[in-house]
Amino acid sequence: MIPPGLLAVSLAALLTACTHGSSHGSPAVQTAHAAAQPAVPAAPEATLPPGSWVAFQRNIEPILARYCFHCHGPDRSENGIRFDLFTDEESLHTRIDTFNKAIVMLYASKMPPPCEYQPTQTELNALVGWIAARQKIEATAAVAR
Ligand code: HEC
Repeated sequence: MIPPGLLAVSLAALLTACTHGSSHGSPAVQTAHAAAQPAVPAAPEATLPPGSWVAFQRNIEPILARYCFHCHGPDRSENGIRFDLFTDEESLHTRIDTFNKAIVMLYASKMPPPCEYQPTQTELNALVGWIAARQKIEATAAVAR
């Protein structure tokens, strides 16, 4: 049995977390939104070059589309962050700053906001794995210049 006081405190914390940055108040809206999203591949293709454009297109973009686009896409771009502007290899390089910020938010479990649909552990691993690989590519290129 949870002490009533403790329950009240954790509920309050949850409610506060839920109101912050949330675009979808009602579960019905969330469900409708999730249903409209493309299916995310169950397991990322490990054979694609880590941090590459093909790996992004195949494994990463579907995850971003499902969990991030509705706040960081064409309709809303919270904090100026958009994940829908990656069109080719060059755009990954030009907009690397978006990923540098994203990996910090993902590691800190700050994005997606607490009440939004959360990526599975597999999806999270794919996201941070790809970003880390991309950061390594960018860093190596920077040293070579
Ligand atoms: C419900 C809306 C919502 C969703 C979904 C969402 N975000 Fe955000 N995001 C925000 C808001 C609001 C801010 C700005 C305020 C803040 O930082 O809390 C933000 C800020 C950010 C920033 C900027 C941080 C900085 O340092 O400036 C990044 C990066 C980010 N989000 C990444 C993501 C990623 C990655 C996902 C998906 C996995 C995601 N967000 C999903 C609402 C959202």
